[in-house]
Amino acid sequence: MTEKILAAQPLPGLKRAGFTSGFGVLAATLGSAVGLGNIWKVPYLTGANGGAGFLLVYLLATLLVGLPVMIAEIAMGRQARANPVSALQKLAPRGQPWWLIGVAGIVAAFLILSFYSEVVAWVFAYVFKALRGSLLSSDRQVTEAAFAALISDPLQSLLWQWGVLAFIGSILLLGVTKGIEAITKKLMPILFLLLLLLCAFSLSLDKAAEGLAFLFKPDFGKITASVVLTAMGLAFFKLSIGMGTMMTYGSYFGDGQNIPVTAARVMVADLCVSMLAGMAIFPAVFTFGFAPTAGPSLVFITLPAVFSHMPMGQALMVAFFVLAAVAATGAMLSLMEVPVVVLHERLGWSRPKATLASLLVLMLLGSGCALSNNVLADFKPWGMTLFDLFDFVSSNLLLPAGGIFIALFAGWAWRGEGLKRALSNHGQLRNETLARALVVLLRYVSPLLILLVMLKGLGLF
Ligand code: PHE
Repeated sequence: MTEKILAAQPLPGLKRAGFTSGFGVLAATLGSAVGLGNIWKVPYLTGANGGAGFLLVYLLATLLVGLPVMIAEIAMGRQARANPVSALQKLAPRGQPWWLIGVAGIVAAFLILSFYSEVVAWVFAYVFKALRGSLLSSDRQVTEAAFAALISDPLQSLLWQWGVLAFIGSILLLGVTKGIEAITKKLMPILFLLLLLLCAFSLSLDKAAEGLAFLFKPDFGKITASVVLTAMGLAFFKLSIGMGTMMTYGSYFGDGQNIPVTAARVMVADLCVSMLAGMAIFPAVFTFGFAPTAGPSLVFITLPAVFSHMPMGQALMVAFFVLAAVAATGAMLSLMEVPVVVLHERLGWSRPKATLASLLVLMLLGSGCALSNNVLADFKPWGMTLFDLFDFVSSNLLLPAGGIFIALFAGWAWRGEGLKRALSNHGQLRNETLARALVVLLRYVSPLLILLVMLKGLGLF
């Protein structure tokens, strides 16, 4: 088995699928970047850390770290036309173990999916609860109790999570073109429509201006070193980089696809989604006198109470949780595709078999996270529940380490030349200067900056 896994080439006879249109490429890639992060992280962090000032720092971090690594990952994937493990073997100089980045990526995908799927499970459960009207209460204590009731129930937590995983697995069974591409092409327009609808309602409220001021008013005094590092970490995780997701999707890009332009579009659209989400959330939060928060307490406790104050609140609540479910679906598809394509290409398993095997592992690992809020609440290896541990190890160790090595690989081991050739579509595009600038960023700037984020994440300074 290990020999097979380490075999240098994907097994013969496997025809590779891919994305078939420019819009499909954009929808799938944006679908991966857009996720729960846009809804519960970026808007809040922007508001709490200096509004427009934070955005500026975040943008800078994206341009110096996020975008270069994203472009490199996609280019590597497309050049090798293989899963992350094989891709790195194909591109690396003989005998150098860069393929380990791919292996770390699979581990990261499993860990992230294990806790992410539990949060998505709550989102799906809330779609149904919102439809039934059982979340309608303008009292935050009531919505808090409702959330506690859901997460403290082991059976509900498990079943919703397994349902979500099976849902994502069933889309992957349809394949890259008919599954990932076709579905994200439908989901992305729905996402923007729902966002604009929610924004329109929220911005028409009395104290919308207060919410907008929270979100955008520049306060450069709030920008400390730790805020800069937060922005950098965020830029990096937002774009789903450092774990082979973008490499996998890059391997499905068409030969004529302009990689830097596509990556830049995804970055801008992802930022728009975050800002629109902020404009949908905070004007309403402020109008009804709630305090802005982040994470689960914002989405599952504050917002239901906020919506309950609004006219047509139930319909808007349903729209909001559908929006969150749509955003999370694209992200989860890209996460699960990583182990699926590795098993498929390295072991020669059929896609259904590879998907089922990944699903089984995820149900097992994921249940550790689903049970973290109830029966396993006191099981805390290294002082953290499994939910927090998986989040910590993937976000603070595996992704940044993956990002550093991908940058170093593209900048040094690939000698810059490989990257330049791949980005110009083998001479078709004239983007030499851009490619040269990217090589400099990848060689020196990105690895150093990511290392700083990583040390900070580990609490080393
Ligand atoms: N970018 C996704 C989000 O913002 C999360 C993600 C991370 C998805 C890594 C894939 C890979 O929610």
